[in-house]
This record gives sequence, structure tokens and C-alpha cells, in this order.
Amino acid sequence: MSDTPTPDELILEILTDPAVIPDPHPLYRRLRELAPLFKTELTQTWIVSGFENSRSLLRDPRCGSPMDDDAVASRIALDGSARRPRDPESQPMLFMNPPDHTRVRGLVSRAFTPRRVEQLRPEIAEMTDRLLDSLGGEGDFVDGLAFPLPANVISALVGVPEGDRDWLRPLIADLSASIEPTATQEALDVAEAAMAEVRAYLVDLIATRRADPRDDLLSGLIEASDGEDRLSENEMLSNVLLIYAAGFETTTHLLGNMVRTFVANPAQLQRVRNDPSLIPAAVEEVLRYDPPVQIDGRFVFDDIDIDGVTIEKGSSLVTLLAGANRDPAVCDDPESFVVGRADSQILSFGSGIHFCLGAALARLEAQVVLERLIDRYECWEITAEPIWRPRITIRGVERLDVRFT
Ligand code: HEM
Repeated sequence: MSDTPTPDELILEILTDPAVIPDPHPLYRRLRELAPLFKTELTQTWIVSGFENSRSLLRDPRCGSPMDDDAVASRIALDGSARRPRDPESQPMLFMNPPDHTRVRGLVSRAFTPRRVEQLRPEIAEMTDRLLDSLGGEGDFVDGLAFPLPANVISALVGVPEGDRDWLRPLIADLSASIEPTATQEALDVAEAAMAEVRAYLVDLIATRRADPRDDLLSGLIEASDGEDRLSENEMLSNVLLIYAAGFETTTHLLGNMVRTFVANPAQLQRVRNDPSLIPAAVEEVLRYDPPVQIDGRFVFDDIDIDGVTIEKGSSLVTLLAGANRDPAVCDDPESFVVGRADSQILSFGSGIHFCLGAALARLEAQVVLERLIDRYECWEITAEPIWRPRITIRGVERLDVRFT
């Protein structure tokens, strides 16, 4: 890349260069300063890196998910190949638009309640302690805790029996690879096959729960109704699958980012140690400073005039959530990690009608882990260079060697 890269060069580097993954923030900043809203010639996609524009576009009813063949152009891969259109019949809420989205999210929310999440607190603390006991203070934090904890928590919440969880994990990993902008056709085919396998498994599990309901989310979704209205079998399947998959890797990376960030900022860790009431604020600051989901996209249904340009109907746009979180227009000294900021604003869980349904669960898990780590260990160290997953949409480490004493 030249000394004065163009916005196109910057975005190409962000999306495709694995060397950027450990620290994409300087590139987000350069892009925000150089071209906070521009259309890249690479994929004819609008790239948005400032906070206000990202938030307003994510919330704009003229933006949503492409559902028909005409909109395939919005899903051009970086290698220039067109993505296959999605099958509208099996889309989860994430890829739905109102009024269907409103209806399905409403029904799912009747089962996925704050009460059901909060009830998990003691179980999460117990699981965390058990995993930390096994880790024994030294080893790979991802393998020892950051991966198994959210996987077990979401399995317990949904109602996936313990014996099936290990088998499901690699399939879920294959599935989530499909949302990367650089996903190859091969990765998409693997994702599709994994999806078919998990759906078949869930068909059986739903039938089991219909016959014999328990106190889990699956039974809650079977029960959930609004008057006469209920989720169809297909809607239940797609959305359980989404919730299950969304609960894995995102939270894993939040936990990994949290440990990395505190080890790099020991004075902030000491502040939280001195005053544990700062724990929720500490998790918010980790979410702002280094969010697991860095990129969020939309299809544009109608012309949008914004900042003196027209984002034209039929185009697609990408918001750089992690860059937006560090926009100096909404955050003082945004490149510093400071726990307990007043009026902190973040886009880490998106914004608007698709705001993350699992945000409370992810926050709860991170708060419990931080509380248990502070309680158990005085000294946190990273003992080897972290190994990053070569992914930018859901970004995080796949190996983090630690020593806790
Ligand atoms: C740190 C962890 C997490 C992060 C950073 C995260 C991030 C996000 C983001 C950015 C969106 C918005 C996507 C969009 O606007 O297109 C989203 C949506 C969603 N998330 Fe999460 N998520 C996390 C954990 C979870 C968990 C644990 C669950 C489930 C238990 C979950 C379930 C969902 C669902 C169902 C949606 C779609 C909501 C809708 O379309 O109405 N997420 N998440």
C-alpha cells in the first residue's frame, strides 16, 4: 500500500489482510478521517465509519435485508462472484424485515426474557469456577474458558442436552464462517451443509420438547403465542439456530478481548479490583474498545440523502462498528481504555430493530467472568503471542495463553 492510501485501498486492507486483524483500529481511524462515508469501487458498497451515520443508517427503515433475486447484487463477494439469494422461507429474524421481523422477534422475545437470562447467573458463576479450576491458573484461556463457557450457557438456555454439545460445536463454527465478507463459495457450501445437519438435529429436539416440555427456551418458543399467533416450525428452527450460533463465538471473543485488554491496561484492572461496582462499566468499556462484531451490513431499499450524498436505492452498505465506537465526535480520548466513562455510546450490539437479542446474556457472562477472575487471581499475564482467527466480521483470538496467580 502507498504512503497515502486511498479509501479503497484502506477498506481492501481491512477486509482481506490477515495482518490487520490484531489491530485494525488505526485503519478504521484513517478511513474515518479520510472518507467517513464513501462508496468503494471494489464491491459498489457504501462504507460508513462514523458513529452518527452508522447508527442512523442501522436504524433507518429504508435499510434492511435483501430478500429477492433483484437484491443479489448487494451481496457481491470480494472476489467478484455473486452470492446466491437467501431462501426467504428459512431466514431467521436477523435477515427479516418488518412487518415479519416485528412479529417473529415479538414472539421469540416472549420466551427469551430478561428473567430467563438473569436466572442463569448462579449457573454461569458455577460453570466459570469449574472451568477455572480445570484451567488451574495456566493454559489457553480460549480453550479453557472463553469457548466452553458461552457454548455451555447457550446450550443450557436453549435446552441442548450435554451429550450433544461437543458434536454440534464444529458445525456451528462452519456456519458462522459464512457471514465473513471474504467467505469463499467453498466456505458457503460447507456452511450450507452444516446448516442442514443442525436443522435436522433441531427438528428432532423440538419434537422431543413438544412431547415433554421443560423449563428451557425451546419449550418456551413452542409455547410462545400472541393471541392465536405462534411461531411456525420453520420459524422456530431458523431462530433457535440463530440464537444458538449467535451465543457461541461472539461471547467467546468478548471474554478473550476482556482479558487481553485488562492485561494491557493494568491500572484499569486495579481500579475495578478496588471497586467491584465498576464491573458492569468495565464490560461496557471492553465492548466499546474492542467489540467482537466489527462489521454490520444493510441493503438499501430507497434513496437516502445523507451528508450531502445520495446512497442510492439497490446499493448495499457496511457500517464499521468498531471504528464508530472510537469516533471522537461521541467519545473523549476514544483510543484509550477508560472504565466508567460518562455517557458511553456503543454500537457493539447494533442499533434499532435488530439490536442484539442476546446483549443481556453476553453482558452477564462477561460480568460474572470478570468478577470470578478478580476474586480468584491477583496477577494476570499473557505468556505467548495471541493467535488470531483470520476473520474480521466476528473478530477475536483463537488461542490466548495466560497465567493467573
Ligand atoms: C458479545 C456478544 C455479542 C455481540 C457482540 C453481538 C452482536 C450482535 C449484533 C451487532 C447484532 C445486530 C446485527 C444487525 O444489526 O444486523 C446482533 C443481533 C443478534 N444477536 Fe447478538 N451479539 C452477541 C451475543 C449474542 C448472544 C449471546 C445471543 C443469543 C443468546 C445473540 C443473539 C442475537 C440475535 C437473535 C440477533 C438478531 C436480532 C434481530 O435480528 O432482531 N447475540 N448481535
